[in-house]
Amino acid sequence: MFDHITPSTPDPIMSLMEAYMQDANPQKVNLGIGLYYDHQGNIPLMQAVHIAEQRLLEQQRPHTYPPIEGSALFARQIQTLLFGEPVDRIATVQSVGGSGALKLGADFIYHYLARREIWVSDPTWANHWAIFEGAGLKVNTYPYFDDASGELRFAAMLDTLSALPEGAVVLLHPCCHNPTGTDLSPAQWQAVIEVVQRRRLLPFFDIAYQGFGDGLDEDCFALRAMLKTDVDFLVSNSFSKNVALYGQRLGGLSVRCATAEAAVNVKGALKTLIRRSYSCPPTHGSQIVETLLADPQLYQLWASELTTMRQRIKQMRVGLAAGLEQGGTTLDYTRIRDQKGMFSYTGLNERQLGQLRQQYSIYLVAPGRMCLPGLNQQNLDYVAAAILDVTRTA
Ligand code: LMR
Repeated sequence: MFDHITPSTPDPIMSLMEAYMQDANPQKVNLGIGLYYDHQGNIPLMQAVHIAEQRLLEQQRPHTYPPIEGSALFARQIQTLLFGEPVDRIATVQSVGGSGALKLGADFIYHYLARREIWVSDPTWANHWAIFEGAGLKVNTYPYFDDASGELRFAAMLDTLSALPEGAVVLLHPCCHNPTGTDLSPAQWQAVIEVVQRRRLLPFFDIAYQGFGDGLDEDCFALRAMLKTDVDFLVSNSFSKNVALYGQRLGGLSVRCATAEAAVNVKGALKTLIRRSYSCPPTHGSQIVETLLADPQLYQLWASELTTMRQRIKQMRVGLAAGLEQGGTTLDYTRIRDQKGMFSYTGLNERQLGQLRQQYSIYLVAPGRMCLPGLNQQNLDYVAAAILDVTRTA
């Protein structure tokens, strides 16, 4: 029955993580998967999460079924995080992580909007391709980043978006672009929104790193600016990174509709898709986040912990760039210093990446994506010296 199944291609990000875990070198450094490590190199249990979990334990709630769409409170909290307040015209459901929200959104686009194509940035997160193709959509690209110059290809991006057919679905990263760390400015977002309105495109925003760019509210500039228009759109969000709940698989899908009545029907469609896929979402992660977002003191604690994480990443950017500058690198270290979020598109080539991995046990995702939180004061000099070594020749 199964003999015809050939070996599958390993996922480029997850398989790198596995290789890192198996590496016996005590000096190994994981700059691969989008995972936040603290200054001691540990994946943190956020204090706000710990307190929320203790409260849940004390309540001794039974593990009953949640509603198909997750709790109503959680949906309102997601809307408040993304848009500043709950919005009647938005249908929000809990999802199985950000990836689950993307898949649910893709299924919605395929089954309820009869679209068969999507446009993503070139480059984009590798799993965007896998998720959308897996949902039956043809994946096309719009220009975004020029790896040779390190520049955003904004004019070319606008040209391509302007030429798309009416109703075309466009995947956009509101902040902390994955993999390049290069974001649009507010003025550039306004220009994109103008094209989206004029061409009547359907934006699908993927915000997996809210809080890691400039701040929880600042990172939602594009979403909130879009909400002020008459454009309908989708948003997938994730709590993997900003609440460090990776394994709880917690996220949300929000669909902004023309009216509150339309939002009720869209939520019904999403519930149908969920029920026939995994029935209803898991509850532990959402109860943690509900608890911490509902309590102003816990919210403050969480927000300040997130600020510390964001600032630490910036310090590591500046520290590594300074180390490379002092060593006289040929690499354009200003990218590492100036890009935003967890990632930097360093410009390191495949040979250099291979050398970093083989000689130094330093892991980056090809082509040249570095996850900065893997750096800390203990390994910064080691990584800078290794990069200087492998970039001596082009
Ligand atoms: C990443 O880009 O490394 C993260 O989003 C983790 C993942 O699932 O790929």
